[in-house]
Amino acid sequence: MADLERLTFTIERPLYRRMQQLMQKTRCRNRSEFIRDLLRARLVEEHWEADEEALGTITLLYNHEKRDLSRKLTDVQHHHHDEVLATTHVHLDRHTCAEMIMVRGRAKVIEDLAQALGQEKGVLHASVAIGSTGRRLA
Ligand code: NI
Repeated sequence: MADLERLTFTIERPLYRRMQQLMQKTRCRNRSEFIRDLLRARLVEEHWEADEEALGTITLLYNHEKRDLSRKLTDVQHHHHDEVLATTHVHLDRHTCAEMIMVRGRAKVIEDLAQALGQEKGVLHASVAIGSTGRRLA
């Protein structure tokens, strides 16, 4: 079993009620686990802000009919072959494609890649979900 610290802390009652509501909403029944999850979520943000190695998903929405766009998007990904782990393509409807690109690398590189993909003409939306490689979260 991991080395544990037992904590006692004080919190305003209204804030405590909000915590209980959040716990109910997220179906978390264990206060310790709830606090651990909050801390880890904050640490993932910290690691991202510090430009550490991260795991992320870039989601693109683009027009399938835009000439040459698929090839251009693939070219950009080939230039980042060190970061791109996998790509999933979904034909959302007759005209629209969605692509989820799983990436691993420094946060800044992932953001630059998402920006480069998002700037191609015909891309309707590009977003980044930040994740963690799991280091320094335990
Ligand atoms: Ni498609």
